[in-house]
Amino acid sequence: MIGALTTLAAGDGTAILGRQGSDVVYLIASIFFILGIKGLTHPRTAVRGNQFGAFGMLLAVLATVLGPAAAGHAFDPTMIVIGIAIGAVIGGLAAIRVQMTGMPQMVAIFNGFGGIASAFVAGGAFLLAIGTEMSLQGNIAIGVSGMIGSVTFTGSIVAFFKLLDLRSLRKFPSAIPGQRFLNALLFLGAIAACVWLVQDSENTTTYWTVCALAAVLGVTLTTPIGGADMPVVIALLNSYSGLAAAATGFVIDNNVLIVSGSLVGASGVILTAIMCKAMNRSLPNVIFGKLGPSADGPSADDVYGGKVKSASPDEVAMLFDGAQRVVIVPGYGMAVAQAQHTVRDLTNLLEAMDITVEFAIHPVAGRMPGHMNVLLAEADIDYDKLKEMDEINPTFGQVDVALVIGANDVVNPVARTDPNSPIAGMPILDVDKARTVVVVKRSLSPGFAGIPNPLFAMDNTYMMFGDGKKAIMELNAVLKENA
Ligand code: TAP
Repeated sequence: MIGALTTLAAGDGTAILGRQGSDVVYLIASIFFILGIKGLTHPRTAVRGNQFGAFGMLLAVLATVLGPAAAGHAFDPTMIVIGIAIGAVIGGLAAIRVQMTGMPQMVAIFNGFGGIASAFVAGGAFLLAIGTEMSLQGNIAIGVSGMIGSVTFTGSIVAFFKLLDLRSLRKFPSAIPGQRFLNALLFLGAIAACVWLVQDSENTTTYWTVCALAAVLGVTLTTPIGGADMPVVIALLNSYSGLAAAATGFVIDNNVLIVSGSLVGASGVILTAIMCKAMNRSLPNVIFGKLGPSADGPSADDVYGGKVKSASPDEVAMLFDGAQRVVIVPGYGMAVAQAQHTVRDLTNLLEAMDITVEFAIHPVAGRMPGHMNVLLAEADIDYDKLKEMDEINPTFGQVDVALVIGANDVVNPVARTDPNSPIAGMPILDVDKARTVVVVKRSLSPGFAGIPNPLFAMDNTYMMFGDGKKAIMELNAVLKENA
């Protein structure tokens, strides 16, 4: 490999793979990318999907280095090996060290790296092309790549810090007056700079102006968005990073970059749409609006006053006597409490009592796509027990006990009953239809949407107040004692 690179490094124009040869390898790499995305659609095949994607990327890198595009330029092969080594160490350490709860931050920062890499490659191509004839299409692609890449980079950095939720950052204002007007101005300014670049492609200031305006736009667009809406923004930024890569593919005439960038762009848009649909909110509402209680909505006192019943772990354990079917509904609070392993132990105890246990998974339970699936998989809970909302909802009438652990908005029946509620129309898990409902949470505090939940005050509901992990551990202890 190093030998082949050294031969190429001489830059004498001899490529190991011709244009056709590298295009065939690119095609094979693209097939692996598609198989990778297909694999990532289910937890059972996700690891293999990831491996397919990584293998496709290895093929693409080899075809580029050994192909005609590299053959015309003198380059130092050790730089490539050093680059691969640094990337492998950073990626490896991140994969080993980052906690499941830190996943959204990691995705955010990696998106940002993708965006800035595209902007740098396009900038490099722009500098190399000075003094030569660059096509109109090439110049447009350079401007687009610099613009989207820079928005993605700074937007992702802001998203990263928001998700870290550092106390010291909270004192900074998240919105400034005239924000939308400023965003519109920055966007139009960046477009105008792109037009200037196309007309004056010998002038490097044009490119840096595009990047600078877009970088500021990335900050002003992302800063006002609430931390809990960040997963949607990250999916969107992910799609932007793909579009920036596709534009860079046009700049350097690289087919696999165009294909892979388009795949990332399209899948990011689809994921964004799925999340918005699951929250019954439009994308502009996520980006420009705030989710919160409306002034005329019922107060917590109206909803809960004297109607909430609490139950101890001993009392909840008794509810399982004679139960045949139990459905566990995990939510954000289970992630906060890191209760997934304790929940697995509970599942084993209930199954030992001949009870069928299933998990009802809402698409936006938690704070990132697939949050609950990832946590339950980490605790080795069988995928077959995980049921999606559409599958389990019609069966809640036959559920003996629905055990809600740290979920709130995704089981709030007002989504069905109150057209003025901020979550009106959001599809929810119909746990209120179960024979008995037990809700584990620390208090009657609202969830992400900030509204009271009448489920907690229903006749068939018992609240088991406490931290998710501690409460389930206590319940497990009672069940073991009774076994
Ligand atoms: P939420 O409605 O946010 O409710 C979580 C509940 O967990 C809170 O009411 C909280 O009550 C409880 N909790 C927190 N820490 C706990 C702990 N240590 N032990 C036990 N309970 C704890 O969560 P959800 O039902 O999962 O709904 C998700 C929300 O996030 C939806 O509104 C959704 O639209 C939004 N959202 C999701 C996504 C994605 S992609 N998942 C993206 C954007 C927005 P206490 O404080 O009383 O304990």
